[in-house]
Amino acid sequence: MSDDPQADAGEAEPTSEKLVELAKRRGYFFQSSGAYGGVGGFYTFGPQGAALKGNVEDAWRDRFAVAEGNMEIDAPTIMPEPVFEASGHLDGFDDMLVECPECGESHRADHVVEDNTEYEDAESLPIPEVEEVIAEYELVCPNCGAGLAGQAVETFNLMFATNIGPGDSDPGYMRPETAQGIFVEFPRLKEYARNQLPFGVTQIGRAYRNEISPRRSIIRTREFTQAELEYFIDPEEDEPDLDAVEDVEVTLYPASEQNADDGEEVRMTIGEAVGEGVITSPWVAYFLGVAKPWYEAVGVDMDRFRFRQHLSGERAHYAADCWDAESEIDGNWIEMAGFAYRSDYDLSKHAEHSGDRFTVFRQYDEPKTVERATVDPDMSYLGPEFGGDAQAVVDELEALAARDREAFEGDTVEIDLEGESHEVPVEKTGFAVEEQTEAGEHITPHVIEPSFGVDRLVYTVLHHAYREDEVSGEDRTFLELEPEVAPTFVGVFPLQTDDELEAEAQAIAAELREAGLSVTYDESGNIGRRYRRQDEVGTPFCVTVDFESIEQEDGGVTVRERDSTDQKRLPIDDLAETLSAIRAGDLEFEDLEE
Ligand code: GAP
Repeated sequence: MSDDPQADAGEAEPTSEKLVELAKRRGYFFQSSGAYGGVGGFYTFGPQGAALKGNVEDAWRDRFAVAEGNMEIDAPTIMPEPVFEASGHLDGFDDMLVECPECGESHRADHVVEDNTEYEDAESLPIPEVEEVIAEYELVCPNCGAGLAGQAVETFNLMFATNIGPGDSDPGYMRPETAQGIFVEFPRLKEYARNQLPFGVTQIGRAYRNEISPRRSIIRTREFTQAELEYFIDPEEDEPDLDAVEDVEVTLYPASEQNADDGEEVRMTIGEAVGEGVITSPWVAYFLGVAKPWYEAVGVDMDRFRFRQHLSGERAHYAADCWDAESEIDGNWIEMAGFAYRSDYDLSKHAEHSGDRFTVFRQYDEPKTVERATVDPDMSYLGPEFGGDAQAVVDELEALAARDREAFEGDTVEIDLEGESHEVPVEKTGFAVEEQTEAGEHITPHVIEPSFGVDRLVYTVLHHAYREDEVSGEDRTFLELEPEVAPTFVGVFPLQTDDELEAEAQAIAAELREAGLSVTYDESGNIGRRYRRQDEVGTPFCVTVDFESIEQEDGGVTVRERDSTDQKRLPIDDLAETLSAIRAGDLEFEDLEE
C-alpha cells in the first residue's frame, strides 16, 4: 500500500541551487568557518555528507583496492620541495590569473574566456593569445563588470607552500595530488609487491590546490578528497584482462569527434573501442570498463555520464593519453575522474632527482648472450693529458661506447666536455666489444592512473538522486540514493508520544544497528513530517511502531519504501534479516509478502 495512491514520482528538473540549499539544511555540506564569514573553497561535510562520502569511499576501496587485489597506503599530505621539483609541479602546476583593475578580484583568465566566448579549451592557449582574446571580446570582471582588456595575464602556481620546522630553510608543500605520496615510495612498495609487475597501489586522501576562483560549491574547492590508483606495469610484457570488461557499454567522446564540426558522442563496448582504436591503451580501456558499472552502482545516472578524451593541449604535463569520466549537472559536463597513461614519467623523474632506484628487474625466460661495448682507458695517458678532467673523460667514453660504437671506428674518438670538443686516440681508450650473459634487465615501469575526485562524485550522486513529486497533495523532495551509499538505511519511529511505543521502537532500532544497518531514531513531530525528513536525506526505508506492534504477539511494524512510498506490514522477528537482505541486494521490497 502507499500513503498516497496518487503518488507520482515526477521528474521535476533538479537544480544545483535547490540541492545546495538542501545540503546545508539537512547536513550534507556547507561552507566552512561560517562564524567568521566563511572562507572560499573550503567545505565541511555535515553528518549526512560525511556518512555518504564515507560510504562512497568504502565502495571505491572495495572495487579498486580489494576486488582488484591492489595495496592501499596512507601517506602524509605535506611533502618536501624536492618531491615537487622532480614531479614538475613546482614549475608547471600553474593556472592563468587576471586581476581586475577596479575591484582587485583575481579570476582564472581561461574561465573568463570560456564563459564568455566560443573558446572551449582556453587553458591550452598561450598567455599572449588569452590576453588578445580578452581585449578583442572586451571581456569584463565577473565580479564588478570593469573591463579586463590590457590587464596582464600571469601564471599562478596552485600549490600551498609551508615551512617544515622553524625558519624557512626547508620549504614544503601540501600535496596537490595524492599520487606523489605513492610514487616517492616506489622503491619500498615494489618490495612489498615482491618485485613482481604488474601491481597497483591505492590511496584515498586529501589534496590541496590554491584555486584562483573556487566555484560551484564542492565541485571546485581548495581542499578535496581524491581516490587514486597507481597501477605499475611492464609496458612490453603486461596485458590487462580485457575479457572481463569487453562487453561493458560506454558512451565515449573521443578527441577526433570533439575536433570535428559535426562530431558527437559514440556508444560502443569496451571491446569495440579497443578493436577500432578509439581507445589506444588497452590498460586505460580496462579501467574505464571497471569504472562504468561502478559509477552506475553508486548512483550516477548513466544517461548523464560519458568518458571524454583529453584534447592534446589539455593534457597534464605527465600524461601521454587521458580520458575523463564526466557527469552532466544542469546541462554542463563536469570532470569526476581522470584515467591517465602517465608512462614512466614520474618514476624516471624521481629516479633522476633522488638517485634512488625506481626500476624493477625483468627476468628473461632464458638467459641472453648480448654484445656489450666497453672501454678501459689508459690513465697514464689521460692523466697528464686532461689533468683534473680525466675522470670526466672516462665517464664520457663509457657513455659514448654504450650509445655509439661507430664513434670508435677511426683512429681518434671525439668527446664533448662542457661544450668543448676533445680528441682521444682510440688505442688509448681500451675499447672492446665483449659477449656477456645476462639473466634480465632493470626496467622503469609505466603507470596507468585512475584518479577519482570524491567530492565531485558525491555532488553528482546527490544531484542525480534529487527528485520532486507530490504525496497526499503535498510537494515532496526526496533523494533517490542507492542503499549502498545512503547515509542512513532505515529510520525507526514510534507512531506517537507514548512510553511503551518509544521503548519498543528503541529496541527495534538497537536490533537493526546490531545487524549492521545504519539507523536513525526519530520521535519528534508528526509522522508525515518524519517521513518527509527521511525522504529529504535519502533514507530508503522507514519503520513505524504502533499499538498493534506491541499489543499482539509480534504484531508487526509498518515498513515504508522511500521512492514508491508503498507501505507493508512486516513481522518484527524477521525485520533485521529482511532489511539486511534488501540492503545486500538479495531481496526486493516489492516482492515481499505481507
Ligand atoms: N593525480 C591526477 C590528478 O590529480 P586531476 O585531474 O588534476 O588529476 C583528479 O584530479 C580529480 O580530482 C578530478 O577529476 C576531480 O574530480 C578532482 N579535483 C581536481 N581538482 C579539484 C578541485 N579543485 N576541487 C574538487 N575536486 C577536484
